[in-house]
Amino acid sequence: MCDPLGSPAAAQTLAERGVTLFALELIPRITRAQSMDVLSSQATVAGYRAVILAAEVLPKMFPMLMTAAGTLTAAKVLVIGAGVAGLQAIAISRKLGGVVLAYDVRPAVKEQIESLGAKFVELALDTAGAEGQGGYAKAQDEAFYQKQRELLGQVVAQQDVVITTAAIPGQKSPLLVTADAVRAMQPGSVIVDLAAERGGNCELSQADQRVDIGGVTILGPTNLPAEVPLHASQMFAKNVVTLLTHLAPKGELTLNLEDEITRGTLVARDGQVVNPAIRQRLGLPELAATGTKDLSTT
Ligand code: NAI
Repeated sequence: MCDPLGSPAAAQTLAERGVTLFALELIPRITRAQSMDVLSSQATVAGYRAVILAAEVLPKMFPMLMTAAGTLTAAKVLVIGAGVAGLQAIAISRKLGGVVLAYDVRPAVKEQIESLGAKFVELALDTAGAEGQGGYAKAQDEAFYQKQRELLGQVVAQQDVVITTAAIPGQKSPLLVTADAVRAMQPGSVIVDLAAERGGNCELSQADQRVDIGGVTILGPTNLPAEVPLHASQMFAKNVVTLLTHLAPKGELTLNLEDEITRGTLVARDGQVVNPAIRQRLGLPELAATGTKDLSTT
């Protein structure tokens, strides 16, 4: 993983040194490539772990319990961003017995949220064009985010747990939970900001710190897969082996650039950056299409 969208200049430096560079982050989001997709496998672990962290900090239990000592209400959970990590966080929160709401700018995920037993939060925002290439969210303008923060603030204030996962590939995370929204939450509530590495979805989160704002705990963990190392490594290894087997089916590396997975994951070869998205970020012109290249002797 070399973050070529976030650090395109580093990719160019490697290209200039003659490195043939693949980025695991660029595995196309297609069914055939799912078993190679490290973003998905590691996000699955992060989504799970985020809920466990929240449950550890929350001074309440997740499930509704009717006991001889009284009725305990279920924890209220809001998941913002329902990609791989968010959907996993919804599923685990539900398994623990929480009452779960979720929101995403991509309208297509409403059905997925509901299929996991959570309720989709309807906000009065125009999200018709919010989905971009490869199923990823597109960045919106500041007026959109401002309106989203206002509308979400009212929902955030009523939750025991808020898990945020909203991301735009290669860009700073959108700011969605304001300081005012945090201050409106009840003491004891917990926010787990999975976007903290790229600036955070919550205004007050700090990467890898535990922040206390009037009794509201904000966690901004940046490497949750490392906290579940066995399964994270098991899936990562499977992803990498599957990709290598794809690139070198007979043990020798042959780049078939007509193949979507090989072409999509390749960042640099022959001394230059070849990936269109990264060339664009570097301000480089488009390259003409090329075919198969045998790298077995390089
Ligand atoms: P991600 O990590 O880039 O972003 C997380 C979520 O944040 C996304 O669902 C995005 O729509 C959402 N988001 C962005 N801005 C937001 C905002 N302002 N408010 C609320 N939510 C916001 O996404 P991830 O998990 O990497 O998934 C991206 C896409 O790839 C999805 O469409 C997913 O279904 C698809 N996918 C396809 C796979 C395959 O077919 N091989 C495997 C895994 C994911």
